[in-house]
Amino acid sequence: MSVKKIIPGPAVWPIIGTNWTFYPIIGKGYDQDRLHEVFLSKFREYGPVIKEVHKKQAIVSIYNPEDIFKVLYSSQKDPTRLSHYALLHFRRSRPDLFASGGLVPSQGEEWHRLRMNFQPPLMASQLKKTFGTFEKISEEFVEYLGELSQKSIDGTVPNIVYSLHDWALENICSLVFDSRLDNFSTKRKKICYDMVEAGETLLSALKIVEVTTNWKYYETKAYRQMATTELYFYNFAKTYVEKTRKAIGDGLIKNPAEHSLIAYYLSSPNMDVRDIITTASDLLVAGHLTTAYATAFVLYTLGINETKQEILYNQLCKDIPDVNDPVKAEDMSSTKKYIYLRACYKEALRLNAVTLGTGRVLSTDMVLGNYLVEKGTVILTQNQVASTLDEYVDNAKEFKPERWLKSSYPNKMLPQSLPWLVLPFGFGTRVCLGKNISPLQTQILIAKIIRRYRVVSISPKKLRLKTILINVPDEPINIQFIPRENV
Ligand code: HEM
Repeated sequence: MSVKKIIPGPAVWPIIGTNWTFYPIIGKGYDQDRLHEVFLSKFREYGPVIKEVHKKQAIVSIYNPEDIFKVLYSSQKDPTRLSHYALLHFRRSRPDLFASGGLVPSQGEEWHRLRMNFQPPLMASQLKKTFGTFEKISEEFVEYLGELSQKSIDGTVPNIVYSLHDWALENICSLVFDSRLDNFSTKRKKICYDMVEAGETLLSALKIVEVTTNWKYYETKAYRQMATTELYFYNFAKTYVEKTRKAIGDGLIKNPAEHSLIAYYLSSPNMDVRDIITTASDLLVAGHLTTAYATAFVLYTLGINETKQEILYNQLCKDIPDVNDPVKAEDMSSTKKYIYLRACYKEALRLNAVTLGTGRVLSTDMVLGNYLVEKGTVILTQNQVASTLDEYVDNAKEFKPERWLKSSYPNKMLPQSLPWLVLPFGFGTRVCLGKNISPLQTQILIAKIIRRYRVVSISPKKLRLKTILINVPDEPINIQFIPRENV
C-alpha cells in the first residue's frame, strides 16, 4: 500500500485551525470537559490517525497500538512533550524563585539534567524503605474508613474521593517531606481542604491556559489562578525544604539519603535549592490528586463487579492469611502473590483512565497507519479511548482482570498490543516519576480494604468522567463497606 500524505481530520480554518469543532452551531459542539468522548467521536468519524491544527501546530492523534509503540519507543532519546507553556512562562518570569522551568514543562537539555538529578531516589529499588510508611498510612486509613462507614446506617461512605485525597496527601507528604499531616479525622484539617482545592484549581487553570494564548498579552483569570495556586504549593514545599536544610546543617538528620526525598536531594551535589523546592512542589501536585482518583476508580470498579471482587478476596485471603497481617514490600512485586490484585488495578484503569494519553513531538518523519507524519508534529497517543475499543481489545467494555494474566492464554503470553494500549503512566525515559509509587500505594490500600470489607458501589450506576487536565468523576462516588465477618 502506498503511503498517503494527506491525513484525515477536520477542515483547517485560517487562524483558529481546527478549534471550530468545539463551537456550537457552526462547529460540532464538542465538549472541552469530555475530551475522551470528543476523541472517541473523532475516531469514529476519521479513523485511527487524525490530524488537527491548534495555534498553527499540527497535532496528530493515534489510536492503533502498533503506532503508539512506534512513537513512544522511538522518542526515548528526545522525549519532548510540548505542554504547560504558561507554567513555563510564569516560572521563567520569577528567577528569584525558580532556577529552571522544572521537570514537567521543561524540554531538551534542561529537562534531561533535572530528570537525571531527581529520578534516582524514585526508582523501584530505592522505594523499599518507604514501603513501611505507605503500609502504616493505609492501615490507619482503613481504620478511619471503618469509623466513617459506621456513621451511616448501611455503611456507605459518601464521596469516597474526598477521603482518598487525604490518604494520598499523607502518602506523598511522607515520601517527599518525611512529614505526616495526621489528617485521618472526621474533623478534616484545613490544610487538606486547602491543598485539594488548590490542586483542582491549578489543574483546571492549566487546562484553560493550555488551549488559549491571551495570557501572553495580559493576566487572564486562569493565568492568575495558575500563578496563585502554583505559589501556594511552592511555599508549602519551601517551608519543609528550609526546615530540612536546617536539620541537616544541625546534624539532626544523620543519613539524609534514608530520610525524605528532599533530604536526599539537599545532600546531593550541584543541586540548586530552588530546583529542589520546584520538584518537591511538582511531586506534591502531580502525586496526590492522580493517585486518589486512580484508587477511587479501582474501588468503584470492584464495587460494581462482585464476582471479580470475590475472586480477589479469595486470593487476598491466601496472600494475607490473618486479616491483621501487614502487606509486605517484597510480596507486592512477587510473581506468586498479589497477581490478581495487580491485574484488577490495570484492568480498572483501562476502563477508567486518569489521563487521556501521552504527548510527544516527532523528531523524524514517521509513517503512522498509512500516513506520512512530518517531523515536528505533536503526537497524542489516545490510550484512554483506544483501550476501551472492541477494535483493539476483546469485549473491551467488560471488566476482566484475567486478560492481564499470562496463564489465561494458551501460549502463556499477553497479546502484544495490550500493554501498549494501557499506559496510565506514559512510557520510556519521560515516564511518570510516580510510576513505581502510585500503583504500590493503591494496591496496598485496596488489598487491605478488600481483605476486610465487601465493597458495593452504591452510585453512580455508571461512572462518567470529565476532564480537568486529568480525568475526574462527574459525580460523587459513594461506596458501601460491609465488614467481611458480617457477610
Ligand atoms: C495514578 C497516578 C498517576 C498517573 C495516572 C500519572 C500519569 C502521568 C503521565 C501520563 C505522565 C506523562 C508521562 C510521559 O510523558 O511519558 C506523568 C508525568 C509525571 N508524573 Fe505522574 N501520574 C500519576 C502519579 C504520579 C505521582 C504519585 C507522582 C509523584 C510522586 C507523579 C509525578 C510525575 C512527574 C514529576 C511527571 C513529569 C515527568 C517528566 O516530565 O519527566 N505522578 N504522570
